[in-house]
Amino acid sequence: MCGIIGYTGNRNATPILLSGLKSLEYRGYDSAGIYLPAVGVCKAVGPVENLVEHIDVKKWKGTSGIAHTRWATHGPPTEVNAHPHSDERGTVWIVHNGIIENNDALREGLLARGIEFRSDTDTEVLAKLIGIHYQSDLYKAVNQTLRLVRGTYGLVVTSHECPDTLLVASLGSPIVIGIGNKEHFVASDPSALLPYTKDVVYLEDGEIAIVKPESYQVFNKKGEESKKTSTLLDWSVNEVQKDGFDHFMLKEIHEAPAVIEQTLRGRLLPEIGRSKLGGIDSLIGDLVNIKHMTIVGCGSAYYAGLLGKYMLEECASLPVTVEISSESRCQLMREDSLNALLVVSQSGETADTLSALRRGKEAGMLTLGIVNVVGSTIAREVRAGVYNHAGPEIAVASTKAFLSQLTVFALLSLFIAREKGMSLSEGQIMAKELATLPEKASKVLEQADHIKSIAEMYSKATSMFFLGRLYHTPVAYEGALKVKEVAYVRAEGYPAGELKHGPIALLDEMVPVIALAPKDETYQKMCSSIKEVTARKAPVIAVTQQNDREVSSLSSAVIEIPETIPLLQPILSSIPLQLFAYYSGISRGLNVDRPRNLAKSVTVE
Ligand code: M6R
Repeated sequence: MCGIIGYTGNRNATPILLSGLKSLEYRGYDSAGIYLPAVGVCKAVGPVENLVEHIDVKKWKGTSGIAHTRWATHGPPTEVNAHPHSDERGTVWIVHNGIIENNDALREGLLARGIEFRSDTDTEVLAKLIGIHYQSDLYKAVNQTLRLVRGTYGLVVTSHECPDTLLVASLGSPIVIGIGNKEHFVASDPSALLPYTKDVVYLEDGEIAIVKPESYQVFNKKGEESKKTSTLLDWSVNEVQKDGFDHFMLKEIHEAPAVIEQTLRGRLLPEIGRSKLGGIDSLIGDLVNIKHMTIVGCGSAYYAGLLGKYMLEECASLPVTVEISSESRCQLMREDSLNALLVVSQSGETADTLSALRRGKEAGMLTLGIVNVVGSTIAREVRAGVYNHAGPEIAVASTKAFLSQLTVFALLSLFIAREKGMSLSEGQIMAKELATLPEKASKVLEQADHIKSIAEMYSKATSMFFLGRLYHTPVAYEGALKVKEVAYVRAEGYPAGELKHGPIALLDEMVPVIALAPKDETYQKMCSSIKEVTARKAPVIAVTQQNDREVSSLSSAVIEIPETIPLLQPILSSIPLQLFAYYSGISRGLNVDRPRNLAKSVTVE
């Protein structure tokens, strides 16, 4: 939430900061602002584009600066509340991502000293405090201020008295320093730095860095200098561009075959029916012995975990509980070393998931992660993990990362299962099927136009149901979440068998029902559920396998997907639902990449 970018070097900072803001916009788009010590400040309500319109590039010249795109927490999205914020004298300027929990108390203290506030934000409180402590040493002022603060921050501070210096601090909100040639960058997300550098250093919690064009120094909580090792990003610039697609979401859905392939690359051994997961290989002994696994995640990552449960329980006979990260705390307290905690997160920065992870660590659990962003906080804090290798996901709605999470769960299940007694032939079937998924995913994508026309047909619907059974129940939840997010339609994902226990009361001819009906053990029961739906005149859009007769004869529209083994089928059946959500949003004229009220990385609890 909130995107931060800073630059100090020898080039003009303005285009770097503005293009950085554009690539960070998915983190928040309520307002944006920029400060260059050499020029001044400019802010605008709404997307970054509005800020760009206010900037006269001929006048905005300076070799350092900071900028911010906001997801509002304290105070509405107004120009006054937009960052950067300054101290009383207008000397110190800051941009901030996170929440200052003792904001009210600190604000009252400052008001009692006669300090006036312009905005409602907690960030302005920070700026005023830094200003009070600032004599000539900005590091000292930031350090002293942060000792008074309770909460989370990713923070960049500058002053027109030392214009080429950026003070950068992180606690619970990510900050990354990009290393260039006689220039440095800072950002809340490494994807913003890709056009300039792939060499990055992540700040740990409590660290403060002094960043100048020629150098950067990082200090730990005790004020001692920390020696940092840089990480090389393996993403390319193309991956953060739309590449001819109208939206990132559409591009990312169409990346499905490549993403599954990347997730599998070098990890699958079809001949011996095994998988190889470098990040957790050394832990295989522990994994075989654990008695129980708790999976935590939020949103799509949680739904991926629900399917992961089926895979781990059925393949690896490992009992699994899946919890929404923000709900999981009490249960975690009773866990111990025979229990593993597996956290799932695309961004690796989700505050609720991070907090669950930390509780699990405190309780002595073996902590594992399935994370997409290399070097992110969760990736650094788990004992071991598996990277998705899905590449950067820019659209707010998760699509390709969800598919790669499911793929990692399949690899992980195979990995543990074969050690625990899954037979060679069963392993080979699973591994060989996994290897066919990229090609089968391409076949699903060939139906994009057909799915578009179905979405357009129901573009007036204000309510929808997504139904599935067993492995397809999480797919139904995820399909409904996508439609809520990008089409603003009230959509409910439901286990089909539960429909008759209440929600069926909501069905009529105006409520389309998307029914997931693969030809597995649930098929006949799904046919019965579909009949219950059509008896209430609700139109059914069925997702089923090729050459199906029964479901097709009952449905208003049919999307056919290639067949694979039942546990892997959800990887394929999720793709048409992503396309359906995308086209549902488009047919309603919505900004699918940046849905209202949402942010890509939710770094507040
Ligand atoms: O980065 P994470 O995977 O931890 O994010 C979790 C959720 O916030 C995320 O999946 C969210 O639900 C998406 N917007 C879903 O499309």
